Amino acid sequence: MRVIIKEDKNDCTTWVARYIAYRIKRARPTAKNPFVLGLPTGSTPLGVYHELIDLCKNKKVSFEHVVTFNMDEYVGLEPTNPQSYHYFMYNNFFDHIDINPKNIHILNGLTKDYAKECENYERAIQTYGGIDLFLGGVGTDGHIAFNEPFSSLQSRTRIKTLAPSTIKDNSRFFGNNVTNVPKQALTVGVGTIMDAQEVIIMALGENKAQAVYQAIEGSINHQWTVSALQMHPHGIIVCDSSAAAKLSKNTVEYFNSIENR
Ligand code: GLP
Repeated sequence: MRVIIKEDKNDCTTWVARYIAYRIKRARPTAKNPFVLGLPTGSTPLGVYHELIDLCKNKKVSFEHVVTFNMDEYVGLEPTNPQSYHYFMYNNFFDHIDINPKNIHILNGLTKDYAKECENYERAIQTYGGIDLFLGGVGTDGHIAFNEPFSSLQSRTRIKTLAPSTIKDNSRFFGNNVTNVPKQALTVGVGTIMDAQEVIIMALGENKAQAVYQAIEGSINHQWTVSALQMHPHGIIVCDSSAAAKLSKNTVEYFNSIENR
């Protein structure tokens, strides 16, 4: 695992945006052989989306031959609902880049057949030969996508009931009222994320410090689903100094020494 510890949020954001742009360019994607990118929502990746939009506008990267798969979507929210992940992605990213709308994939939380929707999503990922790079954030309880504590580390795309901690955390987007937060979501599984060629998990701020500690110094376990990254051959955690605050001095020194070599 690589661990990139940057002083603040902006440094993390710039590092991740440039890394994604570099990966896309290096792959020299074409219509027949596109770059497949897994994407998250949440406050963590917002800055990355802003920087990628700038890079795209300045012709430093193109999304013309990029195919995207989002991690998750709430059950029951219309795509026009500002709290839906559809709305979030178009509003904060897709509407501002040169992506072909046909290349965008987001789970349909309004489907009548959850199992089929999730099965089709896994199949669509396979059609493209899998995901090249999956970007994710992490919840305060260590969840990735909506793989709540005690999700199977081999889980695939499915419907998931949200944990009380997630409902509470996400209530800030729903007028701080937990009763307004959908109680279920469709989400890629831990296994789906781990199948990607490369996975970057971003963590910003002190409320992510415990999750970062568990991900890096804790054991691999289903309570902190982010810890599955330890099994990934190309996993990267990018965190700011506040999110790294619970790591031991030795751990921080070790990863910094490798990155600054
Ligand atoms: C939600 C999303 C996750 C995200 C998490 C943290 O639960 N399903 O993908 O990582 O929130 O969000 P934030 O980045 O806003 O802290």
